[in-house]
Amino acid sequence: MKLLSIVVCFLCVNSLMASETYKAGVLLQNKEINEFTPFIQQAGQTGLDILVLPSLPGSADKYDELVNSISKTARQAGVYIATHLYEKARCGMAYETVRSNLVFDRNGDIAAVYRKPQNGIANCTTPHSDLVTFTTDFGVTFGLVMEEDLALYDAEHFKGVNNFVMAGEWESEVALLNAATFAPSWSYIMNANLVSTAGIYAGKAGLKTGEESLLVAELNKNGGSASQTVLSIKPSTFHQADLSQYVIRPLDLEASSMGYKDTICHRSFCCEFYVKTASGSKNEASYKLAAFNGVLPVSDHHNIAAEICLISGSENSDTVFERISVTANFTKQNAQFPLVQSAILPAENFKFTTKASENSQQVTLEAVNVKSLQNVGIFGKDSAVLEDNYVYGEKNNTETVQNDIYEYIFNEDVQEFFDYVWIRLRILIVVVSIYILEMM
Ligand SMILES: *[C@@H]1O[C@H](CO)[C@@H](O)[C@H](O)[C@H]1NC(C)=O
Ligand SMILES: *[C@@H]1O[C@H](CO)[C@@H](O)[C@H](O)[C@H]1NC(C)=O
Ligand SMILES: *[C@@H]1O[C@H](CO)[C@@H](O)[C@H](O)[C@H]1NC(C)=O
Repeated sequence: MKLLSIVVCFLCVNSLMASETYKAGVLLQNKEINEFTPFIQQAGQTGLDILVLPSLPGSADKYDELVNSISKTARQAGVYIATHLYEKARCGMAYETVRSNLVFDRNGDIAAVYRKPQNGIANCTTPHSDLVTFTTDFGVTFGLVMEEDLALYDAEHFKGVNNFVMAGEWESEVALLNAATFAPSWSYIMNANLVSTAGIYAGKAGLKTGEESLLVAELNKNGGSASQTVLSIKPSTFHQADLSQYVIRPLDLEASSMGYKDTICHRSFCCEFYVKTASGSKNEASYKLAAFNGVLPVSDHHNIAAEICLISGSENSDTVFERISVTANFTKQNAQFPLVQSAILPAENFKFTTKASENSQQVTLEAVNVKSLQNVGIFGKDSAVLEDNYVYGEKNNTETVQNDIYEYIFNEDVQEFFDYVWIRLRILIVVVSIYILEMM
C-alpha cells in the first residue's frame, strides 16, 4: 500500500515536471480595478499560470480593499497574480508611501512581497538588499523586480534565476532606461524570461507580441531560448534620447553611402562607428553619432555611472542602414547591453560580441539591413562607485571621491609600515648592541 502510494506520487510529480513551459500573461491598458476582473477570469479560463496587472495609480488610500479584491479574484480564477500597489505605511505618528510589488498564488494567498519607499527616503521602510523570489506550483522560481532594478543591479544580483516578474512604473528621466527600451536588452543579455507590464520578453527569443489587452505567451521554464529569433521592442514605445550631455557628431550621409568610420570620445571613453547606408536613400533625416561617459539618474533617487555609444535619429526616416558596427572598450565586466530601436531586426542580421581583456572589455554591436532606425548602440555600466551628490552628466566628482579614499588608505598604510619597521629596527639595534658589548 505504501509502495503503491509512493509509485503513484512519483508518477504525479513526474507528470507535473513533464511540462517544460508555462503560460504567462500581461494585462495592458486598463487602469481601474473593476475593469481587471473580466480579464483575470478570462486568464483563468484560458489556463494561464501567471498574470501581471498594470500598476494602479492612486491606490495608496485603497490598499487593503485592493489586496482583498485581487486576492479573491486570484482564488476564483486560479491564477498567480502579480501587481504593483502604493501603500500608506504607518511610521510613528505619520505615514509614508511605499511602492509594493505583491504576488498572489492560486488560492489568493500572498506568495511574495517586495517593497520600496517611494522616494528612496523613509524612516520605517528599508529596501530589500537581496532579490525577492517565490516558487510556484508549476515548478518555476521567479525573481520579483521593479523596473529600475534592471539598470541598478549587476548580473550577480539575479544569479540562478531565469524567470522574472516585473510590475510597476518607472519614472526614469533617461529615455534609454525606460522599461520598454531597456527590458528587452536586459532579457536578451540575461537570456531570462521577463514578464512585465512593458511586455513579455523571452531572452534571446525576444519580444512576444500581441495587440490584445491581454497579452499571452508560452515560455520555456528554463528561461529564454537557445534559438535566437529577434531583438526588438514594441515600436509604440520608442522614446527620443536626450543627447544634451553627450559628445555628438552628425552622421555624414554622403560618406556613409560609401561606408565610413568615425570615432567619438567623451572624456576617456571612445566609441568607434562604422556606418554604411544603402545608396539612393536620399533623405533629409539627420542622424547623430554619440558617446557618453558620465552619471545618469536611473530614477528620482538613484544614479549610475554609464558609458554609452549611440547612433540616434528619427523614426520616420526611410534610410536603410546596410551595415552598422559600434565598438568600444568598457571599464566594467559583464555590464553591457545592446540598444536596438528600429524595425524588427531578425537574429541573423544582428550580432553582439564581448571580448574581455586585462582591464577592459571590448564590446561590439554589428547589424545589417536596419530600417526605421531610431537608436542603435551599446549601453554599459561604469565601474565607478557613486556618491549621493552627483551632477547629471558629470563624472569627475566621483573620481575625485575615489582618489581621496585611495590616498587615505595609502597614507594610513605607509604610516603603519614605518611604525612597524621602526619597532623592529629598535629591537635589532638593542640586540646588536648587546652582541657588540659582549664581544668587547
Ligand atoms: C523621518 O524622520 C525625520 C526626523 O526624525 C523627519 O524629519 C522626516 O520627515 C521623516 N521622514 C519621513 C519620510 O517620514
Ligand atoms: C580598444 O582597445 C584596443 C586594444 O587596446 C584598441 O586597439 C582599440 O583601438 C580600442 N578601441 C576603441 C574604440 O577605443
Ligand atoms: C570637473 O569638470 C568640470 C567641467 O566639466 C570642470 O570645470 C572641473 O574643473 C572638473 N573638476 C575636477 C576636479 O576635475
